[in-house]
Amino acid sequence: MKGIILAGGNGTRLYPMTRAVNKQLLHIYDKPMIYYPLSTLMLAGIREILIISSREAQKSFQTLLGNGDHLGLTISYAEQEHPNGIAEAFIIGEQFIGIDPCALILGDNVFHGHGLSKLLTKSAQLKSGACIFTNWVADPERYGVASFDSKGNVIDLTEKPHKTLSNWAVVGVYFFDNNVSSIAKGLSPSARGELEILDVIQYYLNNKTLKVEKLGRGYSWLDTGTPQSLLQAATFVQTLQQRQGLSVCCPEEVALSKGFIDLARFKKLAEDAAASDYGKLLSHIALEFDTLTSN
Ligand code: TTP
Repeated sequence: MKGIILAGGNGTRLYPMTRAVNKQLLHIYDKPMIYYPLSTLMLAGIREILIISSREAQKSFQTLLGNGDHLGLTISYAEQEHPNGIAEAFIIGEQFIGIDPCALILGDNVFHGHGLSKLLTKSAQLKSGACIFTNWVADPERYGVASFDSKGNVIDLTEKPHKTLSNWAVVGVYFFDNNVSSIAKGLSPSARGELEILDVIQYYLNNKTLKVEKLGRGYSWLDTGTPQSLLQAATFVQTLQQRQGLSVCCPEEVALSKGFIDLARFKKLAEDAAASDYGKLLSHIALEFDTLTSN
């Protein structure tokens, strides 16, 4: 399974912060926002990743992540000229996807929870059809939502509903089979002028090949599109990291735990960041890993 991080957009709700800086380069507490979706794809076991952004932002992402080799990944980059919609990722990424199934994650979505790695790894085994996730939210009018029948089967998908049809919001990580690029190419722009991800999902629903999982209480899903939600996400990460001494969405740690890199390489990454709290956290993880594996 390949993975795409969609990290473009105008970030207008975060102006003026995003006038000169791509949203996904802003920080959530101690690390750049893009580390979070990157870690999520890695948790699913995905190692070939395409980052899609504007051309200006591409340089900065390259400076930050290079070709991904230090994390045991292969990272490539592509341009989205204008934010023409989430589904455009599959058209831009068609060559990258090649003959494989593909996961897509939005660059401003943060996931955390016990068992997430297992759930994502299972979803990344998908060969045909599509798999999406929903999470209960208090403000469904801000999201695409899924409605279910009494047996728990999804019956309808609606983008930003005016009246509450369901509180189950479709979260920003999706798994699709290899048909996804041709489905995206067949779409017409919606009334707001975008190629809609819900239209891609609807296609699979119509074909009865859509699996929808509900994320329960043990999972946290945060989007970071407004100043308030960005601050909430930062506070969430700070609280968990300080309370537990564990990192949230640290790609270096995921790379180590998934066996993408060995401990020697991990220690080198920790050394490179030694002056920062982030580096100290990496050193702490290295120590723990040493103890764990030597016992
Ligand atoms: P949005 O929140 O819909 O858009 P945005 O990030 O530009 O923010 P705003 O509404 O404040 O202007 O996008 C969700 C995520 O998807 C975000 O990480 C940006 C990304 N995205 C793209 O990269 N390209 C696109 O065409 C769209 C629609 C979104």
